Amino acid sequence: MTRTDARRALVFGASGQIGAALLARLAAAGWDVDAVSRAPPSANGPGLRWHAGGFPDVVAPDAHFDAVFSCGPLDAFSLWYADATLRAARVIAFGSTSLETKRAAGDPGERALAATLAASEARVFAAAHASGATATLLRPTLVYGAARDASLSRIAALARRTGVFVLPRDARGLRQPVHVDDLAEAALAAVSAPAAAGQAYALPGGETLPYDAMVRRVLAALPERPRLLRVPSPLFRIALAAAHAGGRLHGLPAGAVARMREDLVFDATPAARDLGYAPREFRPTREMLVAG
Ligand SMILES: NC(=O)c1ccc[n+]([C@@H]2O[C@H](COP(=O)([O-])OP(=O)(O)OC[C@H]3O[C@@H](n4cnc5c(N)ncnc54)[C@H](OP(=O)(O)O)[C@@H]3O)[C@@H](O)[C@H]2O)c1
Repeated sequence: MTRTDARRALVFGASGQIGAALLARLAAAGWDVDAVSRAPPSANGPGLRWHAGGFPDVVAPDAHFDAVFSCGPLDAFSLWYADATLRAARVIAFGSTSLETKRAAGDPGERALAATLAASEARVFAAAHASGATATLLRPTLVYGAARDASLSRIAALARRTGVFVLPRDARGLRQPVHVDDLAEAALAAVSAPAAAGQAYALPGGETLPYDAMVRRVLAALPERPRLLRVPSPLFRIALAAAHAGGRLHGLPAGAVARMREDLVFDATPAARDLGYAPREFRPTREMLVAG
């Protein structure tokens, strides 16, 4: 049942780590929500209706939405939105700072990802303009907080399993991990921020710290207290190449180790000015890193 006095939102990627945080914010703010998932939960909540669907075949409910949020794959959303007949005043979509950091990457796959993100953002802005809506693009940095991210939670899982986490000594590139709840708050703030119309914002976390310090804090949050082992960088690279060759290393993209040396730092000033964005410092707890 919809509540006639409530603002109404359509949320894609609602089952994801950012999407789930956004659903909680929308519920707390009294929004009426339609959420889309390829495998929706069987039960709806108060003011929350789940719909089964996935891009490119999503059929949106025939309603007027005050806001549409995209918290899933931006390219798929942008292609769908460009063809959709959707009545929505505001579109808030998550992209990624990879649009900037991977633009000139050595790896062609990473360059292609950056190009796809840029094209997707442009498509969302154009489609919003064509339908009389306004769009805002939000680009998070390294996301954590829901114990299901593919970076810090993965580091925590590996370290808990082995009791140790190994890093090359030069893994000192700067990072700004950002909590899912800060991203959800920014998305909600964007709806009622006139200055955010037609803008894209980097959303870094509230603290900038070297990669090895970030890992140290992750390990310190775990009850097992795994050790951080720092090894000479050439040795690390030889061991990594051997692990790759032996098929013992999966899911570490080409360039990921080299990037540990690089600063990936973004300016939060525009988001602070237009969205009141004030992300927390990086103080991870076990619950933010380990599921269950
Ligand atoms: N994680 C990061 O560190 C990070 C960093 C920068 C930017 N971002 C961006 O932030 C956004 C959200 O990231 P996240 O980490 O919260 O994602 P996530 O936890 O992996 O969730 C992604 C969501 O996308 C939905 N989805 C995937 N394929 C879909 C399809 N074909 N049709 C419809 N829905 C689909 C999934 O929903 P169902 O499975 O329920 O269908 C899922 O809820 C993404 O645009 C991501 O690129 C993430």
